[in-house]
Amino acid sequence: DKGGHKHFMAKEIAEQPSVLTNALGYYIQDGKIMLPDPGLDFAQIDHLTMVACGTAFYACLVAKYWFEQIARLPVEIDVASEFRYREPPIPKGTAALFVSQSGETADTLAALRYCQGKVDKIVSVVNVPESSIARESDLPLPILAGIEIGVASTKAFTCQLTVLAILAIKAAQDRGHMNPDEVAEALEQVKSVPGLMSHALALGERTKAVSRKLAEARDILFLGRGPMYALAHEGALKLKEISYIHAEAYASGELKHGPIALVDKHVPVIVMAPRDALFEKTISNMQEVMARGGKVLLITDKQGAKEAGPGVWDTILMPEVAPFVAPILYAIPAQLLAYHTAVAKGTDVDQPRNLAKSVTVE
Ligand code: F6R
Repeated sequence: DKGGHKHFMAKEIAEQPSVLTNALGYYIQDGKIMLPDPGLDFAQIDHLTMVACGTAFYACLVAKYWFEQIARLPVEIDVASEFRYREPPIPKGTAALFVSQSGETADTLAALRYCQGKVDKIVSVVNVPESSIARESDLPLPILAGIEIGVASTKAFTCQLTVLAILAIKAAQDRGHMNPDEVAEALEQVKSVPGLMSHALALGERTKAVSRKLAEARDILFLGRGPMYALAHEGALKLKEISYIHAEAYASGELKHGPIALVDKHVPVIVMAPRDALFEKTISNMQEVMARGGKVLLITDKQGAKEAGPGVWDTILMPEVAPFVAPILYAIPAQLLAYHTAVAKGTDVDQPRNLAKSVTVE
């Protein structure tokens, strides 16, 4: 049942404020972070290794910035197909964390099994509680997104991010990097996301208009810095899997080390720029793109658009948001642009060619 939507993907995008609210209610009770038994004390570990595939891997990439910045916890991340055969040495005091919507991804499961007996704790962030990955973990953490049918992951991604943000706050608390007031403030920021998402979802018509232009492109670049670099990857992945347009993500600062050679008037460059600590740096990279004739689509808030100045090809105006949780909110325009571009091209949004929802063979 698509609930009145044209595609499951559209339904699942629209469901995000409500499923996120479920996840928040499960993990935050009376202003305190609650984990299911046996819980996890981040003061007891010195390293975190996070492993996943695809969109779930990009959730890990966002979380790496969070854990390192607010909890000063060193994080190693890898895609599961590399991790499992790399057979990395695991330092003492490591917790391993696996992120998987289905809980059945063959490479992620193999990576988990590699860690058994080598790490202090195996944690998983999963959507399907009875899945193999959940069952073989010491601490399976549900994301409570409900069944996801569209092959392109949407609500699972933002629920994964929400659970990982709460875990990062817990890590900061356990490791003495946040006092109770700071914990409370960070949790309030996470709790503000569903409301802001409802506003961002109202951008549907706006993203539809932009997407009609994007649908003409052969190549599209996505740029971001910090956690928005991870979102750039997620935007590019969503776009290529359902619209079949070639899309690449780069860390904004890497542009001048090669990819700027691709920029010309035919290549839209999507710049994901919430007003965080790196905003000005991202905008200066954006101006380098414009100076070379690139067509910039800027995703930022009203003040950000003002500070960025004139000359952009198009702008998507987002609600103002605390920088910490901006990566969760900015998933919405990434998803909507991919969705509407695919619809404009007439591709099969829910069942893109060559892809399966659950990748149970390597
Ligand atoms: C992208 C997508 C895939 C999955 C990946 C991992 O939209 O859906 O990249 O994220 O195959 O799947 P899970 O999370 O089930 O392990």
